Amino acid sequence: MNHLREMQPEDIRPVFEVIESQDDEDAEEALESYQEIGGTMDNFVMEVNDRVIGVTGYQTPPACDETHWLSWTYVHDDYANQGNGRLMLTELIQHLKDKGGRMLFVKVSDYVDEEEGAIYAAALHLYKSLGFKEEIIHKDYYDEGESQTILSLRLNSEATDAQLIADENCPVQFNAVYEIGDTDGAYSFGWHDEADKVFTSKDVSIGIQQARKDEARAIFLSFPHNYSKVRETLIASGFKQSGILTDYFEDGVHEEHFTYTL
Ligand SMILES: CC(C)(COP(=O)(O)OP(=O)(O)OC[C@H]1O[C@@H](n2cnc3c(N)ncnc32)[C@H](O)[C@@H]1OP(=O)(O)O)[C@@H](O)C(=O)NCCC(=O)NCCS
Repeated sequence: MNHLREMQPEDIRPVFEVIESQDDEDAEEALESYQEIGGTMDNFVMEVNDRVIGVTGYQTPPACDETHWLSWTYVHDDYANQGNGRLMLTELIQHLKDKGGRMLFVKVSDYVDEEEGAIYAAALHLYKSLGFKEEIIHKDYYDEGESQTILSLRLNSEATDAQLIADENCPVQFNAVYEIGDTDGAYSFGWHDEADKVFTSKDVSIGIQQARKDEARAIFLSFPHNYSKVRETLIASGFKQSGILTDYFEDGVHEEHFTYTL
């Protein structure tokens, strides 16, 4: 990488200032995430004249085959719209390709700030121009009127032979009801697989009731697409399929998303 170098703990403060120049709340949240153990791992900074002016990076979810999510990606306001974001992302994508990456996903909000306008519009434009494809739009995700778009970029060449993916009768049970971070009233259920049986409509209705009590607006869930018993139960309980992240877990195993509006 010519322009990016690995982020070090001493970069946390200058990176905070980069993010703060664009969004105070994101800066606070990013700060907390960088301060966790290993929080700067797989993050990179870009410098101009020895000053940190940009940050980008990736996260790697467990139990997937070379799947990554783009993490905090910001260019200092003083250096934005000068091609720096494109340079950082191009280098990061090449880095992931070189290390055998398969898929890169990113989430973008369509938030419109009263003074600053659509603050993530440049990011969405940039991602699409780098080849990312829109996969799912979750309406009213972060808040009423603020959607989440998930985009994906294939990093390696697509598998040519379609794999036959067996349906898994995987026992799944819920173990929590919680508000999704960074949202106002979007809820999800925690779950584990290695349970005794697949959850029933009755189990789902307990979760829905709890979310309703907490004044949730909507519940968002996602599962491997080949957990068909899970899908059947969710649909029977009033959830709607809201989209699919193709090849999310591995080639041929997608992530299916479900939404329940309260
Ligand atoms: C996204 C971000 C990192 C891009 O960095 P940057 O250095 O400004 O990016 P570049 O100058 O390389 O490219 C910006 C592109 O967006 C375009 N753009 C700028 N403002 C735009 C707007 N309001 N709507 C649509 N496109 C816009 C520019 O024309 C340019 O496209 P082009 O290269 O095709 O001409 C930076 O804008 C930023 O920090 N934004 C706020 C944080 C953010 O949205 N992060 C991503 C969160 S998911």
